[in-house]
Amino acid sequence: MKEIAVVTGAGGGIGKAVSLMIHEKSGGELKLALCDVNEAAVSELAEGIPGSFAVAADLASQAGRDALLEAVLLQGTPSVLVNNAGIDKPHEPLLSIQESSFEALMGLNLKAPAFLMRHFAKEMMASGGGVIVNISSVLARHALTGSAFYRVSKAGIEALTRQFAMELGPRGVRVNAVAPGFIMTPMTASIPAEVKEKIRSMIALGEFGAPEAVAEAVWHLVENQYINGAVLPVDGGMLL
Ligand SMILES: NC(=O)c1ccc[n+]([C@@H]2O[C@H](COP(=O)([O-])OP(=O)(O)OC[C@H]3O[C@@H](n4cnc5c(N)ncnc54)[C@H](OP(=O)(O)O)[C@@H]3O)[C@@H](O)[C@H]2O)c1
Repeated sequence: MKEIAVVTGAGGGIGKAVSLMIHEKSGGELKLALCDVNEAAVSELAEGIPGSFAVAADLASQAGRDALLEAVLLQGTPSVLVNNAGIDKPHEPLLSIQESSFEALMGLNLKAPAFLMRHFAKEMMASGGGVIVNISSVLARHALTGSAFYRVSKAGIEALTRQFAMELGPRGVRVNAVAPGFIMTPMTASIPAEVKEKIRSMIALGEFGAPEAVAEAVWHLVENQYINGAVLPVDGGMLL
């Protein structure tokens, strides 16, 4: 049975690019589990990637995470997990922050990857090892009005990346993160033009990045056997 690479948020901009990259670079050797709350998006993607399968699940819920694990184990052994599903909204200025926003942003961006790492790492350890890549953000280290809870969730995933890397490394599971800057995906499409211009002026390369640039970095962290606990920025030079 083929080993499985699980990509969450596979129906979105970065998730789709990561899924296609893993399929291409592994020469089809890794079978892709494409998970998203958007069933139509992952079903369509699965049709274009031979041997892959779609899993529709809301990963903010324990039931959704259990359903993903169960669907993957029915198909084989997971050896790669890319925790990519995430939300960045609502964008609330600090004095307007809501408890419900905290729950939503932490639930999907931090709690979901934490427990997916726990579940999938156990399976990886039992089958000889694996690798986990978490998707953080440049905003873990950069303040932008309206991004308070998003920033905390991404700073948290970077801390968890290092913690899991330390505890799981000796057991054959590497854990790393990619920290994208501003990438052209549905998530950033609705940023007003004047704000986009301001953001571009903060990027040394002067442009938003392509999802494929993030996907290449994810593949590098999957492949390189001696990188563990790293957070790799892919931000065109935004934090210099
Ligand atoms: N784009 C950027 O500039 C940027 C920068 C730094 C970091 N990131 C991070 O990169 C990751 C991917 O972002 P993206 O730009 O590709 O965003 P995207 O295009 O909005 O894709 C995110 C995907 O996750 C899905 N999703 C939302 N809630 C979910 C849930 N509860 N369970 C499962 N799936 C869910 C979305 O489905 P729906 O569309 O149906 O909601 C969507 O398909 C996120 O973690 C984001 O924080 C992005």
